[in-house]
Amino acid sequence: MSIAILDPDKSIVDILTDLIGDMGESPCPFTNKDKFLGAIDPKTHNIAIISDSFTDVIEGTKQVYPSIEIVAMGFGDATACLSVGAAHYLKKPFMANDIREIIRALLASPKGQSEVDKWSFITADQSMKKILEIIHKIAPTQAPVFIQGESGTGKEIIARYIHKHSKRNAGPYVGINLAAIPDTLLESELFGFEKGAFTGAYATRLGKFELAQGGTILLDEVTEISLGLQAKLLRVLQEKQIDRVGANSPISVDFRVIATTNRPIEEEIKEGRFRNDLFFRLNVIPIKIPPLRARKNDIIPLAMHFITKIANREKFGEKILTQGAKDTLTEYSWPGNVRELENAVERAMILTDGSEIAADNIMLGIDMTAAPSQNSAVGSTIHEMEKGLILSTLDHVDGNRTKAATLLGISIRTLRNKLNEYTEKGQFSDALSVKTSNGLSHNPS
Ligand SMILES: Nc1ncnc2c1ncn2[C@@H]1O[C@H](COP(=O)(O)OP(=O)(O)OP(=O)(O)O)[C@@H](O)[C@H]1O
Ligand SMILES: [Mg+2]
Repeated sequence: MSIAILDPDKSIVDILTDLIGDMGESPCPFTNKDKFLGAIDPKTHNIAIISDSFTDVIEGTKQVYPSIEIVAMGFGDATACLSVGAAHYLKKPFMANDIREIIRALLASPKGQSEVDKWSFITADQSMKKILEIIHKIAPTQAPVFIQGESGTGKEIIARYIHKHSKRNAGPYVGINLAAIPDTLLESELFGFEKGAFTGAYATRLGKFELAQGGTILLDEVTEISLGLQAKLLRVLQEKQIDRVGANSPISVDFRVIATTNRPIEEEIKEGRFRNDLFFRLNVIPIKIPPLRARKNDIIPLAMHFITKIANREKFGEKILTQGAKDTLTEYSWPGNVRELENAVERAMILTDGSEIAADNIMLGIDMTAAPSQNSAVGSTIHEMEKGLILSTLDHVDGNRTKAATLLGISIRTLRNKLNEYTEKGQFSDALSVKTSNGLSHNPS
């Protein structure tokens, strides 16, 4: 596949041609609109970089060939190009790196896609690409996969990706978060129960293993279950048979198992909280997902992916990241990993009015998605955390309560009640009151 370039300025076309060639991709240069239109073809071109003096060409190409991704470029307003279907707008004069990043991001998305697939896996980082290669090799097999990684690194999305690329992809994908369900209910959730097995069991119910018949079961956060249940799970994995609660005879089930954890598994085993033999059963294919701070090349492509995803979902126009915004995103350490990045991009999309996201539209450090072990909030009460989050959000939006409530996902009335409570208890710092009383952006509610 090649990348088409159209700009009336030959020097621009030449620069882009060299740049794309240096990236190992094949450029297809045009300075003439009619020649471009005669040649453009989705069987040959997956991306087209088009000057914004040809918005009609951008619109026409996108309408006829929706699978071709279009990058518009120019000195003008991004909105006109983005509204007729360009995926990105590159402001001239651009840096070589800007165009490289955009092309990498477009090529990294599995289809070079226009419609954003909820489960598509984005990466431009070498270490992650190596992991994806391994995943492609092991996906078609029946081998159990054990995925380790900090919270928010993408363990679940990898699990779905493996299922999607397995021979079982016509079968069901059934996930269960073992940390979210109390231990007393887990056994019947996993293995099901017979009618009359216990008070309230009015009808027979299938468990997750039976529901995963012919497909894949994801045991999410597997290190969270009791030793008793670990013993039962081990037996199920060995025998490929389950016992419904209250049943007399076992039932054979055909499934492939994927398990995840965000805890250091060696320590869990050493401390006697996780059975070694169960770990060996699950850990046939170990996959370790690096934290986002260890694969910085992924940050901007992921951010762009989330911009498109959120723009599609919210019916917003797409927005571009300024160089300052890119630097801010790249320098940050992302304790909450990709989930925190997604949240930060979503906040920036909501808060930014124009078509550009600048560095100060990006709010960092208010996520609580980090793994507890790295969370400086350990030792604070929920009340203190909540107060901290509310006050820092308000501070960030210059006291605008409407924006703060939107970002926090609460009603303005709830926000007001909380603030009244802090004021009554003398916990509401004057600093914030001063900031909000200057009348600049304070939104009385
Ligand atoms: N490489 C990626 N490409 C696209 N989206 C991603 C990628 N990695 C993570 N995400 C998105 O980030 C969010 C967090 O990912 P996911 O739920 O898979 O993380 P996790 O490791 O299972 O987190 P937790 O340990 O908290 O359960 C999801 O919305 C997911 O779609
Ligand atoms: Mg998960």
